[in-house]
Amino acid sequence: MSQYALEVRSLTKRIGKKLIVDDVSFAIEKGEVFGLLGPNGAGKTTIIRMIVSLINRTKGNVVINGYSLDDDFTSAMSEIGAIVENPEFYKYISGYKNLRHYVNMAKRKIPESRIQEVIKLVGLEQSIHQKVKTYSLGMRQRLGVAQALLHNPSILILDEPTNGLDPQGIREFREYLRTLASEGMSVLVSSHLLSEMQLMCDRFAIIEKGKLIHISKMNETEEAEKTAQEFIFDISDPVKAVSILKEHGLDKEFKDLNDQKFSLALQREEVAKANELLVTNQIKVYEISSKKATLEDRFLEITNKENKEVPV
Ligand SMILES: Nc1ncnc2c1ncn2[C@@H]1O[C@H](COP(=O)(O)OP(=O)(O)OP(=O)(O)O)[C@@H](O)[C@H]1O
Ligand SMILES: [Mg+2]
Repeated sequence: MSQYALEVRSLTKRIGKKLIVDDVSFAIEKGEVFGLLGPNGAGKTTIIRMIVSLINRTKGNVVINGYSLDDDFTSAMSEIGAIVENPEFYKYISGYKNLRHYVNMAKRKIPESRIQEVIKLVGLEQSIHQKVKTYSLGMRQRLGVAQALLHNPSILILDEPTNGLDPQGIREFREYLRTLASEGMSVLVSSHLLSEMQLMCDRFAIIEKGKLIHISKMNETEEAEKTAQEFIFDISDPVKAVSILKEHGLDKEFKDLNDQKFSLALQREEVAKANELLVTNQIKVYEISSKKATLEDRFLEITNKENKEVPV
């Protein structure tokens, strides 16, 4: 047993003279939803194809639940559940019969109880006995995930899984992904939609021109509490307020935002202190809001930097 569901080590792909994936490394913990983010053509699909051995690696290795593709190919592959290209189903039979068919063809014996389990995991109980041709795109995709999970893999790998789904479908997808993760499943998911990844992943890596240029946690609240963030103040008397805050050394990185508003870079505790000072000095506080950088802001910030040496 390994600590990681998936380890990608110095993965590299060269096609002709072109370096399509350049020395990419990351590791996904058990029960973690990990995102590969990047613009079109960044190399996400190529990374995933190498992980699932649809194409050869130029360099590097992949270790799945402790089994290396180089040394233990069959065991490693049996730990992967993936949808890379669109899964094909027989449209004129039910979802259940499709899964049953897959199970009959599988190398390893898969019990009926496992079929029932995956149907429940992806929330297809109600429609599993309907013909696949009646399924929406979202339902077909769930059936694909159910099929990928049948052999109980350590990691589920999905390339752009929300492509083509409507907002409702995307939300449902997100929800069952979280359910899967809460059951201990690890997931690698790729997307170029940043806002969506933000809601879906525990951590993400940004891929740009074949390089991994940034890895960070989605939920960095603990860290955020310690580091200063930008807060916008909407209050009755900004001039007086700033002079009061200045007296207490709280006028850090002051920015005038017009409309009687200004912003400061403060830590969480300092915000509470500032609020208290304003109120006790008869200044009306209408709103103090944190200007949280979205992943999109960060993504643009990172990819726009001239110097691309961002710490990983
Ligand atoms: N077989 C190939 N031969 C030559 N170039 C290729 C081949 N496969 C991929 N590429 C190139 O490698 C780069 C990365 O492609 P890839 O499909 O991995 O990107 P992606 O991040 O998945 O993009 P998208 O968001 O559009 O799916 C692209 O520039 C693509 O044109
Ligand atoms: Mg792709």
